[in-house]
Amino acid sequence: MSTQESVTVTVTGAGGQIGYALLFRIASGAMFGPKTPVRLRLLEIPAGLKSAEGSALELQDCAFTTLDSVEVTDNAAHAFAGTNVALLVGARPRGPGMERGDLMAANGAIFGPQGSAINAGAADDVRVLVVGNPANTNALIAAAHAPDVPAERFTAMTRLDHNRALAQLARTLDVPVASIGNVIIWGNHSATQVPDVSHGVLTASDGTRRPLPDALAEALGGSAKVAAWLDETFIPRVAKRGAEIIEVRGSSSAASAAAAAVDHVHDWILGTAGSWTSAAVLSDGSYGVPRGLISSFPVHSRDGAWEIQQGLSVGADVHARIDRSIKELEEERDMVKSLGLI
Ligand code: NAD
Ligand code: LMR
Repeated sequence: MSTQESVTVTVTGAGGQIGYALLFRIASGAMFGPKTPVRLRLLEIPAGLKSAEGSALELQDCAFTTLDSVEVTDNAAHAFAGTNVALLVGARPRGPGMERGDLMAANGAIFGPQGSAINAGAADDVRVLVVGNPANTNALIAAAHAPDVPAERFTAMTRLDHNRALAQLARTLDVPVASIGNVIIWGNHSATQVPDVSHGVLTASDGTRRPLPDALAEALGGSAKVAAWLDETFIPRVAKRGAEIIEVRGSSSAASAAAAAVDHVHDWILGTAGSWTSAAVLSDGSYGVPRGLISSFPVHSRDGAWEIQQGLSVGADVHARIDRSIKELEEERDMVKSLGLI
């Protein structure tokens, strides 16, 4: 897809909370840049149509120069016909006390038919981002129903976790977010995810680069303190941030999720220019993650394709955590198999 040609984007669950935060950013050029016109297709179930129609009216009223058209529909075949980018957001969010995996039975059934509709009618270059939880396994379900679409085009969102990690580090070190690079989220978008700073880099305003673990040791008073901080504060804070938002806000994260979806697709299509980020992509067996699972990795994007960052050393502690998250992904895959969803 050239970034000057118009792009058709389908957003499912467009009438929901994330939808409301997401549509306006896509339409204003944040996802594809200021020169790419966007045709929006908003897919809802009948109960959500009015809300999506209201957003379509407001989108008109913004007079965005990058917005070509908006259509609202409850027909998946129509919503995905010719689409270049499918954002699968529509699904039930969890409530207080639930884990994301508890949504499997309720939400899993949404993603098979949507995968089939993408298979039947989407553009040849379609790229899919699954946001609805449990996102990794829902992406697996959608991919399984789209045999004609390369499986690498189905991804799930861990960019929100990545951004949360950057923000926590920036606050702890009292540095700008942009000065922190090479942080990784491994595994599942769940409480077992593995935020990993061991390859992190801090770039000072004069361009000097130093390992993030060294900067943390200086700020926290030694490497033993860093180990305790990672274990007791940083990793649980990032991995359970979704639950914290639900508790404080009373409903699941929406604007930050929309921002992360914009970042994911932006970087996928426009490239990561030498840096890396995190995304849940199809495993090719890298880092011992079984082939075929959709797991979060350090990734960079080149020519519109995610590539897993190769050759990183992974310490024993991080590896043990990744293994736990992968085990959970395998259990989720086995559960959706037993439910007949793949
Ligand atoms: P919401 O309840 O506000 O909106 C969901 C919308 O989806 C509703 O309008 C509903 O009518 C619609 N919908 C349901 N089934 C549909 C279907 N088959 N086709 C089209 N639309 C359908 O929820 P929300 O806050 O927008 O969250 C949506 C999902 O995103 C939840 O599963 C939530 O857990 C997940 N989420 C994921 C991340 C992440 O980082 N991956 C972050 C935040 C939220
Ligand atoms: C998040 O991480 O905020 C979302 O996945 C919502 C949730 O259930 O935590």
